[in-house]
Amino acid sequence: MLKTCTFEANDIKMNKIYENQACFDNMDKHQRQQDICAKVDQHYGRLFFPDNMRNRGRPYFTGSLIVSMDGRMGFMDDPSSRTLAKANKEDPTGGMADLWMVNVLRTYADAVLLGTNTLHAESEFTGHVYDPELQKYRLERSERFAPVPWNVIISRNPEKLPWNHPVLNTSEIPVLMIIPRNKTKNMAWCTENDFCYELIRIDHNSESLVGDRYDTLQKNGQTHLIAALPEVDFPDWKLVMKLMRLLNIKQVAVESPYWIYELIQEKAMDEVFTTQTGVYAGGSLVPGKTQSFHSTEAPQLELASIHMTGNNVMMIRQLLKYRDRQES
Ligand SMILES: NC(=O)c1ccc[n+]([C@@H]2O[C@H](COP(=O)([O-])OP(=O)(O)OC[C@H]3O[C@@H](n4cnc5c(N)ncnc54)[C@H](OP(=O)(O)O)[C@@H]3O)[C@@H](O)[C@H]2O)c1
Repeated sequence: MLKTCTFEANDIKMNKIYENQACFDNMDKHQRQQDICAKVDQHYGRLFFPDNMRNRGRPYFTGSLIVSMDGRMGFMDDPSSRTLAKANKEDPTGGMADLWMVNVLRTYADAVLLGTNTLHAESEFTGHVYDPELQKYRLERSERFAPVPWNVIISRNPEKLPWNHPVLNTSEIPVLMIIPRNKTKNMAWCTENDFCYELIRIDHNSESLVGDRYDTLQKNGQTHLIAALPEVDFPDWKLVMKLMRLLNIKQVAVESPYWIYELIQEKAMDEVFTTQTGVYAGGSLVPGKTQSFHSTEAPQLELASIHMTGNNVMMIRQLLKYRDRQES
């Protein structure tokens, strides 16, 4: 049973204090025709995304992060993003507005990319829309959205995953696990953990997702897919993009700090929603700690909008601008 969470008007009260008109005008030109979600429109304002698949042949990637005033993504004693959000006693929503924004991005997503460190650190979450009103919007557009987005996990060591995590054992959650090919020789870790799956090997010549049982599994609503990619330079992003194209994944909400930085390195992350909450955390939980950019290649950001919750929570939407971007 998927969990739900009600977000009342006071839980998501935010004021838009800045909008970059030129940026929105430019986004307008490339936006995908999509119905407005009344709740998002009422509480957040204009939100739409470009049709990247048509424009660039790959999904549109949105990232989301909450960071403290000093740029940490969690406390040393408890690294969970929810703990960071709730630690700010000046936030009138008690961190709910930040959680709601994560839900908003999931509402438009075909896939939610999760990090395995996060799975280990946070035992309670799953990558679906908790807000019943946002979920209703999704369900009413069944021609466009599946009820639950793919929960995507990219792991070099699938045998070490926390197999009792709800992402991995909730029947309603479709899981797309991307692993190196050499990990498919012995997949006892799946049977030991009752993880029924279809295995596909994806390479540059694959034109469709051919697996013995793929069609049958889809018809039966069984959606655990394991995609094996070459272990050299894992993961090959060109193959990941191809896989997503074949699965008709048009938009991905990236919730893993590590993969946000990797996708920025790949010049593929399109925009990032950052909540900066007014507490100091100190310590060493800094996003991108091991993924530094060269000073001459630092990706630029265009500020699209800023919302404020209370007097010390800023919710910032930024688009990434890459020099000489090359698409797969
Ligand atoms: N503040 C926020 O908004 C927020 C959001 C989410 C999470 N968090 C917190 O952030 C922490 C986790 O963030 P994180 O960035 O450490 O990890 P993460 O994004 O949760 O997971 C990163 C995963 O990437 C894989 N990886 C690492 N190095 C790799 C490499 N060289 N090549 C290929 N894959 C590699 C590893 O998986 P394998 O070892 O399985 O290959 C690793 O577990 C947790 O404490 C979580 O609670 C905060």
